[in-house]
Amino acid sequence: MSAAMCAFILTLSSALGPTVVSGVLGAPTHVRLTSYDMNLVLMWDPPEGPASSIVYSTQFKSSVSLDFDKVGCVNISNLECDLSRLNTIFQYAKYTGRVRAQSGTESSAWMESNPITLDKDTVISSPDVSLSSNGAAIEVSIKDPVFMISALREVYHSATYNITYWQHGQREKARSKSNIQQSRVVLNDLDPWTKYCVQVQIIITDRNPSKPSAAVCESTTSKAEAPWVAAVVTFGVVAMSVALVVVAVLYRKHISHFLCPKDALPQHFKEYLLAPPNSSMYLAMRNSHPPDEIYNQVSVIADGRTPEEPLEAAGSKQPDAT
Ligand SMILES: *[C@@H]1O[C@H](CO)[C@@H](O)[C@H](O)[C@H]1NC(C)=O
Ligand SMILES: *[C@@H]1O[C@H](CO)[C@@H](O)[C@H](O)[C@H]1NC(C)=O
Repeated sequence: MSAAMCAFILTLSSALGPTVVSGVLGAPTHVRLTSYDMNLVLMWDPPEGPASSIVYSTQFKSSVSLDFDKVGCVNISNLECDLSRLNTIFQYAKYTGRVRAQSGTESSAWMESNPITLDKDTVISSPDVSLSSNGAAIEVSIKDPVFMISALREVYHSATYNITYWQHGQREKARSKSNIQQSRVVLNDLDPWTKYCVQVQIIITDRNPSKPSAAVCESTTSKAEAPWVAAVVTFGVVAMSVALVVVAVLYRKHISHFLCPKDALPQHFKEYLLAPPNSSMYLAMRNSHPPDEIYNQVSVIADGRTPEEPLEAAGSKQPDAT
């Protein structure tokens, strides 16, 4: 009975221990600096032990400075702070963050995070992949993930795509095209009327690849509509037009000679063409006289009044002119 009582008291005192014993506020725990697509976010867990109305403040620094000279979030109650939203950060820099808790007038110690080198450590999300089938071929369009700062290809010049594709339901027989730099790729070694699935991953030398994209699927149709057929037909039409123009320019004399021959027309053709037409309509028109125009005679009679000013003006000007 007394032993049980003793154990109970011991358990109770150890449970209440941290708050009862220390008047000092515990520091946040599990502090980590993370980066996804070139952002910079500090995260942490609350201090151990019960505490009410805790707020947190964060700071960070790049590896070249000694002090935590950049301020992140101040007096926030949530457990993360997006430092890249509040500050300018640089893609090749190495950063460390820290956070402390505050409750009323009490402040905890600062708790430092792991360091992060942005271009090496940032987690690159998957590219965005869309497919369009074109006959027995499938065109894959790839969009890079959007970075918080800069663009994927500006940070990683060596980035290439690894495109994996397989017949729906036969993942184990997947084929892949690697070292692809274009964002539009045509898969044309496919069977017609078959469903294929495609997954793309961004490969970067000396660091982790991106997350693979979710598999997207599309069905091929008949072979005839393959895009290269259209391309060949278009090319053929253009080539023939060009050839025709060239031939027309080179042989324009021969052609004009052919179209407007110098040879005289046979005599009976000329006679036929030059003979007066004998259609009754034409004859009627030719023999008719133009209709008489009807008119009335109009006489203009002066009323005796003469305009004065023009005369005066003419009279006054004459002496000046002489
Ligand atoms: C943060 O909270 C502390 C303590 O409550 C206060 O002294 C300080 O002015 C606050 N800072 C800001 C920027 O709100
Ligand atoms: C491309 O992806 C496939 C499937 O995930 C994998 O087997 C292959 O090794 C990858 N190639 C490269 C160059 O990463």
